[in-house]
Amino acid sequence: MNYDVIVVGSGLAGLRAAIAAIHGGASTAVLSMVYAVRSHSVAAQGGINAALGNVDPEDNWKNHAFDTVKGSDYLADQKAVCRMTEAAIPTIYEMEHWGTAFSRLPDGRIAQRPFGGAGKQRTCYAEDRTGHILLYTLFQQSVRNKAVFYDEWMVIDLVIEDNKCVGLIAMDMNSGELKSFGAKAVIFATGGAGRVYGASTNALICTGSGIGVAYRAGIPLKDMEFVQFHPTTLFGTNILITEGARGEGGYLYNRLGERFMKRYASEKMELAPRDIVARAIRTEVLEGRGFENAYVHLDLRHIGEEKLNERLPGIREIGLKFAGKDIVSDPLPIQPGQHYTMGGIDCDIDGKTKVDGVYAAGECACVSVHGANRLGGNSLLETIVFGKIAGDHAADYIASRKDAVNQSLLKNKLDAKEKFVSDLQSSKGKEKVGVLREKLRSTMIRNVGVFRKLDEMKEADKTITELKERYTKISFTHPSRKFNLELLTAMEMETMLEIGHVITEGAIRRTESRGGHYRVDYPERDDENWLKHTICTQGENGEPVFSDSEVDISIWEPKERKY
Ligand code: FUM
Repeated sequence: MNYDVIVVGSGLAGLRAAIAAIHGGASTAVLSMVYAVRSHSVAAQGGINAALGNVDPEDNWKNHAFDTVKGSDYLADQKAVCRMTEAAIPTIYEMEHWGTAFSRLPDGRIAQRPFGGAGKQRTCYAEDRTGHILLYTLFQQSVRNKAVFYDEWMVIDLVIEDNKCVGLIAMDMNSGELKSFGAKAVIFATGGAGRVYGASTNALICTGSGIGVAYRAGIPLKDMEFVQFHPTTLFGTNILITEGARGEGGYLYNRLGERFMKRYASEKMELAPRDIVARAIRTEVLEGRGFENAYVHLDLRHIGEEKLNERLPGIREIGLKFAGKDIVSDPLPIQPGQHYTMGGIDCDIDGKTKVDGVYAAGECACVSVHGANRLGGNSLLETIVFGKIAGDHAADYIASRKDAVNQSLLKNKLDAKEKFVSDLQSSKGKEKVGVLREKLRSTMIRNVGVFRKLDEMKEADKTITELKERYTKISFTHPSRKFNLELLTAMEMETMLEIGHVITEGAIRRTESRGGHYRVDYPERDDENWLKHTICTQGENGEPVFSDSEVDISIWEPKERKY
């Protein structure tokens, strides 16, 4: 099976990349662990940012860029941010023309709602199902453009020769068979690594698979210690309760009936950036002002039933089905939960990694446009803008590359992976992979969460090392290869442990607080020593090896963030 370009992942970034590659003349296949419309982009709720100026006529892409840079706690690369925010406006109109049914203003123009950390009202939306509507649009366009889909395939290895992409090895999850795919370009668009954590809003497939495959193939990761905790996830289930709920006017209350955000962000209140709101909620709970020592209330009652039904119908349904609460008459119990991976595969402004022909786009990539804290509504934007850029560049690259892919290298890699899977399945240890996975998740959310303490992070580091050792002693309940979830989990687990390790050691190493990374022992931002990206490569013995790279601050000088 040979293609010019293989896109790994079928969410918004992957599908947009595939369409661009096809438009560029490349034969293109999309490999995904799920059917495209089940990709995690479908779960995005509140919206996508673009300075259309439909509500705030004086808005423009430079305001959007500045808000993004400030929100990032000055760790985002400023030219990359400008590229994204300038492209945002034509991107929204392209999606509209391709069929996205955005919510509308009374005069028919695309509606825009306020979102956290934004100086203007610029988040375009489709009720509270924006990701769903965008994903279906891009899926329809992919089908129209005759993209080839390999649904329910798991990529397990990248094949590289002389620093050039040769293809990949993947498992057909239904049969358990391994196959090699020749491709001069591979675009990773596999989403984030949220499920390395417990209490995550992410789908079960968000295990960081592409990030791990790239890392093991020698491609560096960037800024992995920056993990976003969304302030409002439904207490107990961690289902996302969109920031759009606060954008539409929702209030946060503690047990004493205080709108406590006045203590933390007196101007922006509930619409401060996520890192600030998540810490505020945790502080209220830790200082005894939460309900049942665990959650606070998101109150939407004053917004009224008509507007709630029009703007937040999905949230009303989630409240009713998963908490037995009707937002028209009841506040929702909410707590912060893991939501987004700010770091990812190190790539440049065109999505290129250090290996020729290997690209990354969307949440698995770190360009970096989010720095230490992503603004809500910029994730959907990044997927589509940088998906297209990566697809365009991959198609150009193919056109310039004349050598044939090395089929015997692919065959050797396939044989080696076949042996790896057979050895894994025949191992006779006592450990169960599901137990190890839950231990990793509970450790990460407890010890490397919203507030980070050195001793707790060191404990997490030790636990991960132990889990890596225990992973060598797993055995399986059933020998089948056919959609054997235990086997698939075992294969993902290798990646999850590596990613957990990189996040934890990166967080220990960064002795400052910036955006989503808050060190209790170093509560201030330290530009003198830490205004730099963290780069991590895998060492010879599998250990994370760290270095730094420069942040582009060529447009705005870093300042203290105030909201
Ligand atoms: O809150 C939300 O609707 C999520 C948006 C985002 O993560 O960008």
